[in-house]
Amino acid sequence: MSSSVPILELAELSLRFGGIKALQAVSIGVAAGRIHSIIGPNGAGKSTVLNCISGMYRPQGAIRFDGQDLLRRRPHERPLLGIARTFQNIALFREESVLDNVMAGGHHRLKSGILRGALYWTRFGCREEERRLRDEAVEAIELLGIGELGERPVSDLPFGDQKRVELARAMVSRPKLLLLDEPMAGMNDSEKAELAQVVRKLNREKHITVVIIEHDVGVVRRISDTVTVLDFGKKIAEGGPEEVMKDPAVRKAYLGEEEP
Ligand SMILES: Nc1ncnc2c1ncn2[C@@H]1O[C@H](COP(=O)(O)OP(=O)(O)OP(=O)(O)O)[C@@H](O)[C@H]1O
Ligand SMILES: [Mg+2]
Repeated sequence: MSSSVPILELAELSLRFGGIKALQAVSIGVAAGRIHSIIGPNGAGKSTVLNCISGMYRPQGAIRFDGQDLLRRRPHERPLLGIARTFQNIALFREESVLDNVMAGGHHRLKSGILRGALYWTRFGCREEERRLRDEAVEAIELLGIGELGERPVSDLPFGDQKRVELARAMVSRPKLLLLDEPMAGMNDSEKAELAQVVRKLNREKHITVVIIEHDVGVVRRISDTVTVLDFGKKIAEGGPEEVMKDPAVRKAYLGEEEP
């Protein structure tokens, strides 16, 4: 049984864009070792939550991760702290190969290796570390079912495969916390089921805590330990998937049902 200690705590996050209140005092606790989904209608503030965690936006409130005050850390420090993410609108080096993109997820490790082991640094050491990173990248793309695409430029690939490349890149950074913004968008049902399996596997076998934004209610039901529902920048429900999907406010806001 995984623990229920929060590895990530968002406390009273608020953020405005001009007149839009994107987040209004949103508090979420993400338990270590769980899969935590964030759902809600378009514009509800889901991506904004992820962007606050990854340091793109600076909200009011507090974010604690693994004992650290995240709002005091710079965005580029996230990978070193153990946080990796994928983007709703894919952020890859389009002209570079799949493998180079995936290896980029581990570059912070190479750099920290150089600093730590400066005295012992040799060309052999450098190559050895890069080879290991390449092996890990190959393993990641194979796990995601795109092993044969390693040499292809990312711009050649359909959207669904690009989503897989992003996830592979995130894996290679060896995160404790993985933030996924609609990783299954643009996929058909069997591709979604496959990717859901991969996410579960990363969670169960590599003990990675996952925060995932997903619109497909079936996927959310199957994959989530906990679900948070946002609507107009506010948290309107939270709990286990079955409990949350039954909530009348959720059915009205998210599933478009009228109250009886
Ligand atoms: N950089 C920005 N500048 C201005 N407004 C923004 C910005 N980012 C988000 N918003 C606004 O904040 C609100 C929340 O947006 P957000 O992208 O978090 O929604 P979402 O729940 O992820 O929606 P979707 O399901 O469409 O991805 C929206 O009204 C959006 O237009
Ligand atoms: Mg979004």
